[in-house]
Amino acid sequence: MFVSSTELVPDAQSVPTHIAIIMDGNGRWAKKRFLPRVAGHVKGVDVVRDIVKACIEQGVKYLTLFAFSSENWRRPQEEVSLLMQLFVKALNGEVSRLHKHGVSLKVIGDLSRFSSELQALIQNAEQLTANNTQLTLTIAANYGGRWDILNATQRMLKARPELVAGFTESDLAEHLSMAYAPEPDLFIRTGGEERISNFLLWQLAYSELYFTAELWPDFDANSLQKAIDSYRSRERRFGRTSEQLQSTKA
Ligand code: IPE
Ligand code: IPE
Ligand code: MG
Repeated sequence: MFVSSTELVPDAQSVPTHIAIIMDGNGRWAKKRFLPRVAGHVKGVDVVRDIVKACIEQGVKYLTLFAFSSENWRRPQEEVSLLMQLFVKALNGEVSRLHKHGVSLKVIGDLSRFSSELQALIQNAEQLTANNTQLTLTIAANYGGRWDILNATQRMLKARPELVAGFTESDLAEHLSMAYAPEPDLFIRTGGEERISNFLLWQLAYSELYFTAELWPDFDANSLQKAIDSYRSRERRFGRTSEQLQSTKA
């Protein structure tokens, strides 16, 4: 499944096959309304529901959402603990609906730091929805792009110690946490910051980047459409020249 954009030219469709989103701006959304930050996170979960639906309608096959970074533990303990509770609540409340809509749920990241309750919920949800094919929804939780690359390297060397003498991109890529998915075609970050914040460092090599000032709780199907329209207007060259692309189209 994993096609490396640096080794092969991927087949670029008019609707992105894989969209990856940094859902940022929940805290600021709440602050503007004199609400506690967690109110923004709660509204953010509602938006996830709408965006999953919109992606299914658009024919997107993979949606990957950054929910909690490996650096987010640095936040006040109260916010971290409320985020964990919200994650548990969302899993309890949403999984059967996701299953009904044919969504396969996956969670990537270092899950060992989560409570055993949360780890069990994740495992059950992944098992229940494993064979669904409408959309693969990946939640990145306690995820960091550098962690992913280091973890893949360790797993690869454990499985094939002889590779210590030398290995290829694809040897490593098959051990990355998103080895089951093609690389993201479109990366979206809401909330106005224009940075990657240690999200999918390896996988974003050739993704089209889209930044919007809109805060995640305000993001909706219409906003998604704007991002897809922007994506459609791009020329994805993957290292080639524009003239080469024109001649293959003719
Ligand atoms: C993103 O919103 C959600 C998480 C990181 C969990 P923020 O909480 O970062 O919102 P801002 O950036 O402070 O507005
Ligand atoms: C990135 O948002 C992580 C998530 C959305 C989960 P942050 O708000 O934590 O990113 P920085 O710290 O501003 O880069
Ligand atoms: Mg933020």
